[in-house]
Amino acid sequence: MQSYPILLLLGQLASAQVTDPLQYVDQLVGSSNGGNVFSGATLPYGMAKAVADTNSSSNQGGFTTDGSNVTGFSSMHDSGTGGNPSLGDFALFPYTGCVNDTVDGCIFPKLDRATPFVNSSLQASPGYFSLTLQSGVNVAMTTAQHTSLFRFTFPSSTAPTYGNTSTPSNSPLILLDLTDLADSRQDNATISVDAATGRMTGSSRFLPSFGTGNYVAYFCADFSGPAVRDNGIFVNSRASSDVKILTISRGINSRPLPGGAWVRFKDSSPVTVRTGLSFISSDQACSLAENEIPAFDFDATQSAAVSAWRAKLSPISVATTGLNKSVLKNFYSGIYRTMVNPQNYTGVIPLVSADEIWFDSFYCIWDLFRSQLPFLTILDTFSVVDMINGMLSIYKYQGWLPDCHMSLCKGYTQGGSNADNVIADAFLKINNSGIDWDLAYEAVKKDAEEEPYDWCCEGRGGLDSWKSLDYIPVQDFDYKGFGTMTRSVSRTLEYSYNDFCISQLANGLGNQGDQEHYQQTSENWANLFRSDQTSYTSNNTDTGFTGFFQPKYLNQTWAFQDPLHCSNIDTDPNSICSLQNNAAETFESSIWEYSFFVPHDQARLISTFGGPKAFVRRLDYLHDQKITYIGNEPAFLTVFQYHYAGRPALSAKRSHFYIPQYFQPTPDGLPGNDDSGAMGSFVAFSMIGLFPNPGQDVYLITPPYFASVNITSPVTGKTACIRNVGFDASYQNIYIQKATLNGEPYTKNWIDHSFFTEGKELVLYLGRNESSWGTHVADLPPSLSAYQGF
Ligand SMILES: *[C@@H]1O[C@H](CO)[C@@H](O)[C@H](O)[C@H]1NC(C)=O
Ligand SMILES: *[C@@H]1O[C@H](CO)[C@@H](O)[C@H](O)[C@H]1NC(C)=O
Ligand SMILES: *[C@@H]1O[C@H](CO)[C@@H](O)[C@H](O)[C@H]1NC(C)=O
Ligand SMILES: *[C@@H]1O[C@H](CO)[C@@H](O)[C@H](O)[C@H]1NC(C)=O
Ligand SMILES: *[C@@H]1O[C@H](CO)[C@@H](O)[C@H](O)[C@H]1NC(C)=O
Ligand SMILES: *[C@@H]1O[C@H](CO)[C@@H](O)[C@H](O)[C@H]1NC(C)=O
Ligand SMILES: *[C@@H]1O[C@H](CO)[C@@H](O)[C@H](O)[C@H]1NC(C)=O
Ligand SMILES: *[C@@H]1O[C@H](CO)[C@@H](O)[C@H](O)[C@H]1NC(C)=O
Ligand SMILES: *[C@@H]1O[C@H](CO)[C@@H](O)[C@H](O)[C@H]1NC(C)=O
Ligand SMILES: *[C@@H]1O[C@H](CO)[C@@H](O)[C@H](O)[C@H]1NC(C)=O
Ligand SMILES: *[C@@H]1O[C@H](CO)[C@@H](O)[C@H](O)[C@H]1NC(C)=O
Ligand SMILES: *[C@@H]1O[C@H](CO)[C@@H](O)[C@H](O)[C@H]1NC(C)=O
Repeated sequence: MQSYPILLLLGQLASAQVTDPLQYVDQLVGSSNGGNVFSGATLPYGMAKAVADTNSSSNQGGFTTDGSNVTGFSSMHDSGTGGNPSLGDFALFPYTGCVNDTVDGCIFPKLDRATPFVNSSLQASPGYFSLTLQSGVNVAMTTAQHTSLFRFTFPSSTAPTYGNTSTPSNSPLILLDLTDLADSRQDNATISVDAATGRMTGSSRFLPSFGTGNYVAYFCADFSGPAVRDNGIFVNSRASSDVKILTISRGINSRPLPGGAWVRFKDSSPVTVRTGLSFISSDQACSLAENEIPAFDFDATQSAAVSAWRAKLSPISVATTGLNKSVLKNFYSGIYRTMVNPQNYTGVIPLVSADEIWFDSFYCIWDLFRSQLPFLTILDTFSVVDMINGMLSIYKYQGWLPDCHMSLCKGYTQGGSNADNVIADAFLKINNSGIDWDLAYEAVKKDAEEEPYDWCCEGRGGLDSWKSLDYIPVQDFDYKGFGTMTRSVSRTLEYSYNDFCISQLANGLGNQGDQEHYQQTSENWANLFRSDQTSYTSNNTDTGFTGFFQPKYLNQTWAFQDPLHCSNIDTDPNSICSLQNNAAETFESSIWEYSFFVPHDQARLISTFGGPKAFVRRLDYLHDQKITYIGNEPAFLTVFQYHYAGRPALSAKRSHFYIPQYFQPTPDGLPGNDDSGAMGSFVAFSMIGLFPNPGQDVYLITPPYFASVNITSPVTGKTACIRNVGFDASYQNIYIQKATLNGEPYTKNWIDHSFFTEGKELVLYLGRNESSWGTHVADLPPSLSAYQGF
């Protein structure tokens, strides 16, 4: 009786493909263990991002599933970031009633009101998030582009009430707090509440979470539901219905003084709160809210969000044959996260005219250029066009392309001017006439030629030395521009690649002189290669490899940094590896890992390391000894660099070494900060079996994790297909024996973007052992120099 339907189900699965990708999206992936993912309700690239905020020390994305308490429900967030907690502006918080039925009987300060939620009540799906607080109040939320909608459902009077039995359950109160996650509120935040309707309007100045300057956000909150009983403002733990307007000081303490407004209702039927958002004015916030969610219709708002997500995820379809559902969850949750950030702020910011595209939360391009933006270039091409136009708006109005940017503010640069890579990648793959490529060229050339006075947050530092010495010296002498004088090795490597990207753009735009010049400077990485440098582990074991990048002084003599310093196996507790002014000459990683960062001239790097065999041994050592850390973006490309040494099989093997071991579709399943969807895109690209070398029109071929994958290009409407013949869901057959492209034998181990736009079909024949497919020099991806020693 039972076995028959189960067999039937299996039979259906055997030939099935994904029908609705949304069923596989789990927004709670990365909600603990430092993933810092935004788990709440949002539209793709939406500005309104509603979720419960917790007081976790890892609440950068607002919500966490680490047992922390809920402090409120706010409307603006970033996703996956490090740095300080981002945004979290304008939290709401509900009470079933106030103790003794007096407003002072409700708890206003954020720290004091923090309360557990019921674990089993937690629900998150595209466009939706809800949970029930310990008080019994259920809070469900959904969003439009600039407006969140929260539905508060209060328990019936028989259900437990908050804290104290003398708390009535028939006169709920909802407060709005002039706060953000990081407690960064500055002077003169304001709020006013309309006595008749309870409408709250106001603004506050906050600090960006990883950058300079500050920004002002405006809101407009409307309440729908039971009749308003009374309303007013609160300061610290005291409230009054006699006062309707508050302007509050920053104060001198480490946290700003709590302040905001509240509204109390005549009965406990559900209350819907609609919060409009703007960077221009409260009036705009009100009118956006009125236009986007005119009738407070929760279901209609949610279903519009669901449709928007379905449209974004549907161009990619995979066969589910034989697969564990967790594989599909890993894949589609990863893809979902690539479209949460950056955020579309077009029309709601000062500075630029209303129709000028403005994207923000490029957080940070050092992370995004490697796979997130290249992934979107395939699946959501026109949004990448908008994002690049957004970067060009930032260039026009703030003088420089962004490297990291959030909340209208300049963020901290981590290494090179990596928007150059993004622009080259798009130029080669999209070549869209909606982008002013001459302006884009002007902007990347400014990065290369003009040193900003303060290169903390834009452009490059040390350009005089770069131009005269052809590397960035350690302890540089730089009196023209100022920034953190570290990272001389990783900056040299990144600037070299940035210049290669610029040379490709120059080439495409017909500027031969510039093309040659930047191609030449793109070889500057070689000037920091010290051929006799050895590397010993902390227990003094010789790694067996000689020849590493090293820092070099202005006088052209070598300085020294242990090649394993700041690696994942660096055991020195005193190592300082980030943006501190006494940090290393490599940013957030080791010389060992950065050794492979010559994405444009792998042929010369392979020769430099002693040929393909030595290169493969070194790459194996990097991964096997866990020198690299897959939870940070510089590791991504190293997984697939075996292709350049003619060993594509080893890339496939290495990809399965990391997935799912280090990337699982569980709340604690990410190896580090998602970084705006960077980790998600690494999973997605690895699983479709085409990994980009970002900034070049190259995808490295490995077998997909599915029997087949279809991807429809939004530009041409054509569908590209990758099919695995001999697919086995236990991933023993992961080695390509032969391949065909549109029916013709194909031996190259890489493919270009026309695969997607022209809707080609790639068929891979799989086996259990490495074959000679893709191993010959003619099969290898492009490289600036010629391959030698193969
Ligand atoms: C969260 O709140 C609890 C209880 O007030 C407190 O002990 C803890 O330090 C808070 N955590 C953070 C990160 O603020
Ligand atoms: C709820 O889940 C969190 C995180 O998994 C856990 O720490 C906490 O103990 C759970 N609470 C209950 C009541 O089960
Ligand atoms: C509630 O009323 C009781 C009895 O009058 C009083 O002792 C208590 O302080 C009141 N609590 C609040 C929060 O007002
Ligand atoms: C959460 O709040 C409850 C009740 O207010 C408190 O007992 C508990 O310590 C808090 N937990 C954390 C992790 O802050
Ligand atoms: C509720 O508050 C009242 C007044 O403060 C107090 O007498 C009573 O013990 C409290 N009850 C509980 C269950 O905490
Ligand atoms: C805040 O407002 C007060 C009173 O209008 C004014 O004196 C002060 O300069 C303002 N602060 C800022 C930072 O604008
Ligand atoms: C891919 O497209 C082909 C042709 O339309 C179709 O037959 C196949 O079922 C699709 N596969 C997937 C996984 O969607
Ligand atoms: C599916 O994968 C998950 C996570 O890797 C694993 O825990 C589970 O046992 C797998 N289920 C089956 C039926 O293989
Ligand atoms: C960004 O917002 C503008 C204004 O609403 C809209 O025209 C544009 O299509 C949006 N772009 C994306 C990629 O969402
Ligand atoms: C971009 O498109 C233009 C016009 O279609 C074409 O002439 C040019 O060669 C293309 N550039 C690249 C790099 O593909
Ligand atoms: C020393 O370190 C290397 C590399 O980490 C390791 O393989 C080896 O087992 C270690 N040897 C000892 C004696 O600990
Ligand atoms: C080069 O400069 C470094 C750092 O100032 C110094 O230690 C070294 O002695 C100099 N070498 C020569 C040859 O001048």
